[in-house]
Amino acid sequence: MSPRTTTGTSITGHGVWHPEPVLENEELCVAFNEFARRENAKYAAEIAAGTRQPIKDSTPEFIIKASGIITRYVHDKTGLLDPERMCPNIPDRPEEEISVQAEYAVNAAKRALERAGRTGEDVDLVVLGCSNLQRMYPAIAIEVQEALGARGYGYDMSLGCSAATGATIMASQAIQTGAAKCALVVVPELTTGHMNWRERDSHFIFGDASVALVVEPTDRAKPGSWEILSTRMMSKWSNNIRNNYGYLDRCDPETQNNTDKLFHQHGRRVYKDVVPLAAKFILEHIAAHELPPQSVARYWLHQANVNMNNSIAERVLGRPASREEAPVILDEYGNTASAGSLLAFSLHSEDLARGDFGVMCSFGAGYSLGSLLLQRT
Ligand code: COA
Repeated sequence: MSPRTTTGTSITGHGVWHPEPVLENEELCVAFNEFARRENAKYAAEIAAGTRQPIKDSTPEFIIKASGIITRYVHDKTGLLDPERMCPNIPDRPEEEISVQAEYAVNAAKRALERAGRTGEDVDLVVLGCSNLQRMYPAIAIEVQEALGARGYGYDMSLGCSAATGATIMASQAIQTGAAKCALVVVPELTTGHMNWRERDSHFIFGDASVALVVEPTDRAKPGSWEILSTRMMSKWSNNIRNNYGYLDRCDPETQNNTDKLFHQHGRRVYKDVVPLAAKFILEHIAAHELPPQSVARYWLHQANVNMNNSIAERVLGRPASREEAPVILDEYGNTASAGSLLAFSLHSEDLARGDFGVMCSFGAGYSLGSLLLQRT
């Protein structure tokens, strides 16, 4: 595979949207610690008898050191910071109204289409990739298609934290086969609904954001677009990141409200498994193009943990990476699940020059990995 092997498809537009409320580590910990105090008071007798462990405090210092996350955008703060509730308040909408996740997608899509110089009517495929989907059907992608006045077809796909890179790869492939001419990838990650805000180990991890890309044939792409030279996907079974929420939950009343119906993980194991897996995956992808790792100007990595990203980038480059080489957005956005690598791309790509190479790579639940080798045209 030569450095110039190409799919003949390009990312011609990209856009980001996020809800306005900013949630800081400090206020998050104040709410968690008040929840812990109330729980510990409620179970004081059991704790004194040694039959129950008290919940320990959460600290902003730990959160920053362990993850690099300082703030995150959230749909709703009122429920999250209420020690009696510890869950976002997101009212159900009537079926006649646009659903909240479709609205997230449309907000980012409008920005991506504008940058691409396209309108909704130009779009003939909507691929929605997301780690959590708010309903089974009709597909949210079809609601987005309708809201934008797009043609063609749309579908939702689920692949944990690689849903967004996977959706981009599906869009590129549809263009390559001629099934579509102007594909829209939307990633409405409203992650705060799947978190267990009562769990100290993970209550700080996620934030809400939406990102969209426009993918078209390279011969229709204007200068400054990003040509997709090649793509790779891989998956390898793991139970280390899991969310058991699903339509069969109500069929077992004994377990339907258990905490395994929310995000849970073995963070240390994920870290240990995924760092070498992702570094090897990226190195093999660029080696197939005979490109030395240092010749790639930018690595837009999945944004789950800053220490993890530093380790992966160091393994790839053979030395520590600068923030310019491997941008960090999780300090501001938190972990935005599958949106992370696309957000890093959208927020940190405009400064690169014609001819520059970049790698967008996601890694997460599944395990699932996806990467795209891009070149600015
Ligand atoms: N506040 C203060 N201390 C805390 C805490 C909190 N919120 N949560 C845990 N701790 C303590 C633990 O009790 C433990 O203390 P001990 O050593 O006295 O027992 C210590 O901090 C380390 O806990 P641990 O859970 O091992 O932390 P960690 O360093 O592994 O960091 C993660 C946790 C989740 C940030 C980290 O494992 C991670 O990011 N892993 C990768 C996860 C990932 O990418 N997931 C993908 C999701 S899409």
